[in-house]
Amino acid sequence: MTRSWNKTGWRDLPRVQMPDYPDAAALAQAESQLGRYPPLVFAGEARALKARLADAAAGRAFLLQGGDCAESFAEFNADIIRDTFKVLLQMAIVLTFGAKVPVVKVGRMAGQFAKPRSAPTEVVDGVELPSYRGDIINGFDFTAQARVPDPARMLQAYTQAAASLNLLRAFSKGGFADIHRVHSWTLGFAGGENAERYRALSDRISDALDFMNAAGVNGDSAAAISEVDFYTSHEALLLEYEEALCRIDSTTGRPVAGSGHMLWIGDRTRQPDGAHVEFCRGVQNPIGLKCGPSLQPDDLKRLLSLLNPENEPGRLTLIARFGAGQVGAHLPRLIQAVREEGAQVLWVCDPMHGNTIKSPSGYKTRPFERVLGEVRDFFAVHDSEGTIPGGVHFEMTGKDVTECTGGLRALGDADLSDRYHTACDPRLNASQSLELAFLVAEELSNRRRPVARAAP
Ligand code: PEP
Ligand code: CO
Repeated sequence: MTRSWNKTGWRDLPRVQMPDYPDAAALAQAESQLGRYPPLVFAGEARALKARLADAAAGRAFLLQGGDCAESFAEFNADIIRDTFKVLLQMAIVLTFGAKVPVVKVGRMAGQFAKPRSAPTEVVDGVELPSYRGDIINGFDFTAQARVPDPARMLQAYTQAAASLNLLRAFSKGGFADIHRVHSWTLGFAGGENAERYRALSDRISDALDFMNAAGVNGDSAAAISEVDFYTSHEALLLEYEEALCRIDSTTGRPVAGSGHMLWIGDRTRQPDGAHVEFCRGVQNPIGLKCGPSLQPDDLKRLLSLLNPENEPGRLTLIARFGAGQVGAHLPRLIQAVREEGAQVLWVCDPMHGNTIKSPSGYKTRPFERVLGEVRDFFAVHDSEGTIPGGVHFEMTGKDVTECTGGLRALGDADLSDRYHTACDPRLNASQSLELAFLVAEELSNRRRPVARAAP
């Protein structure tokens, strides 16, 4: 590391998108309590994920990162966690078929509570109140009292993250994710073409497993198909929370964020001289960096050297989120900047955040066609640049919500009000998520198909 670092250094730098807590004593109390709690993840796991992400950067694996835009205190129970986990497992299976490489599974879960907002206040019926910033900061209800930042919410977020992670670990290692159960990950309400396609794929997998069993292929590889590695991630936005959970890794003697395996820096908080970059540069976890249309190549170069001075593979994931039709205008110049620096990065596509629109009925939504379009653009640019599209990043849920329009079930504007449950941005529902996975898998299998040799 070029400059010295400590976990409180961010406090001296300009910060954006963070709350001003009115009660300093309550804040100090919450921070000191969190500081005494055990970390949620341990450093060895973060290092293991880094190695997997290095594989993805090299084309030997593919990253699937997904989950809520914002986790919520009210929408928290075992079924919600299980169903999102099921959809991620289904998507991973579909992608594995397309990519023909292992899929690295990372949830936007167990810590994804703090939200950057486009405006500091919101006005409803002529009443102006501070914006909702995620359950870890203030309340969703449109009342002056709910919108006051409350540091005790950090303790509730920690507790919820710990319980979520506990269940996710049980699902990952306790038999639920065993590939022999591939049919059982289908959700009760799932029907239609996507579910049919998934069933057909599951049948092929079951046949292959039966064949391997009959042929005596088992033993050492048993763990590989009876368990999965599942990692957690969130935006490192609320730095008081991140600092309080920062620990020293006893193996390397280096700081590690204990709040989740992977942290990312949002598109609104990636100022090279700002607080968020400062905190993230000092922890050894894998770091994601959202890259939106305003990111300039020179700033990216500074960020590459600040965030990954040792040019360690797997350390830095660049999450492109430009919007459908915009990828060609922005991604090539950033790829060029990376090339000029000789930087090791993993390129991932977030086709959600550049494609949010207000529907005629007033809901924030994302047309499925545009989400899909951005994924296609992303693959096309990497194809022409000769670089590796190493993963995808989605906002999705296992619930049968109606938040994004389109998809095979052709959700329209008028359907949005049926089950619009998100606390923040619109998510893909289970059926749309699976549909997208099939489409990404097609892109992957097309580009990995060996080019036919010209006849001699
Ligand atoms: C998000 O991932 O929820 C988010 C706010 O993204 P971005 O920083 O890319 O806008
Ligand atoms: Co979002």
